[in-house]
Amino acid sequence: MVDLSVKIAGICLKNPVMVASGTFGFAREYSRMFDVNELGAVVTKGITLLPKEGNPPPRLFETPAGLLNSVGLENPGVEGFIRDEWPYLKNLQVPVIVNIAGETVEEYRRIAQRLSPLEGISALEVNISCPNVEKGGMAFSRHPDSAYEVVRAVKEQSPFPVIAKLSPNVSDIREIALAVEEAGADAVSLINTMLGMAVDVEKKRPVFKRVFAGLSGPAVKPIALRMVYEVYEAVKIPIIGMGGIFGWRDAVEFILAGASAVAVGSAIFSDPAAPLKIIRGLEDYATRNLKTRISDLVGLAHRNDA
Ligand code: DOR
Repeated sequence: MVDLSVKIAGICLKNPVMVASGTFGFAREYSRMFDVNELGAVVTKGITLLPKEGNPPPRLFETPAGLLNSVGLENPGVEGFIRDEWPYLKNLQVPVIVNIAGETVEEYRRIAQRLSPLEGISALEVNISCPNVEKGGMAFSRHPDSAYEVVRAVKEQSPFPVIAKLSPNVSDIREIALAVEEAGADAVSLINTMLGMAVDVEKKRPVFKRVFAGLSGPAVKPIALRMVYEVYEAVKIPIIGMGGIFGWRDAVEFILAGASAVAVGSAIFSDPAAPLKIIRGLEDYATRNLKTRISDLVGLAHRNDA
């Protein structure tokens, strides 16, 4: 029997498979399709201080390399979240990680403050990496000083562990990871989506109104893996790996590269049960490899005796 449990940012997960922010709404819609309590954790859609309408359509565009999105953080705002979503989420038998986003450091601070009385939040995932907004978003995680500032502000306000979600659109992911570790982050999520675009050949224009959009799926997996591998060697805090995880093999690659947990994103759109299949696959893999604990696999690709 393999022990699938992992501890990350002080939270105990019964298995290392969670869902990536934005791909699972606020969990309710998926609870009709499968038992969300089987997941390692649920991560909510990003919450901002005020409600946000998001970007004009189109918002999604499929390419053979993966999915482009330009959602623009549509969400009900922190008050709407507390009123309409939290009553359901707080009764789940699974850790709930709330993703938060803002345009200014002060906004992040105020959201963290507003969420702080909610008993039952397992952690805040600080989204400093959304590529689809005019202000804030990804800009914060492109420089170590601004990444530090946001994480520090949230950490000071929040009674919950803080996870920093970083952008792949940087030249040195290690310096950003080191900055957020220094600011007190309890874990890092790697990676948010990669800047990309598509062109409509009939209209002879970019598909998206904002021109660039966030790419997820198969094309970003090798990039995400490389970043997990690099950051594992640079910081001591645990890593949640994500980017193109469709099956258990992808999840194993991330774990061997150094992720203590993984998040499934785009795969959920084609198969909502993908995370559950990955959990079973991980268990079989660990059994075949004579590991009694899944955590014994974390970072094994870094050994130089292989
Ligand atoms: O690709 C993304 N899309 N990443 C985010 O952090 C937010 C999301 C959106 O709402 O645009």
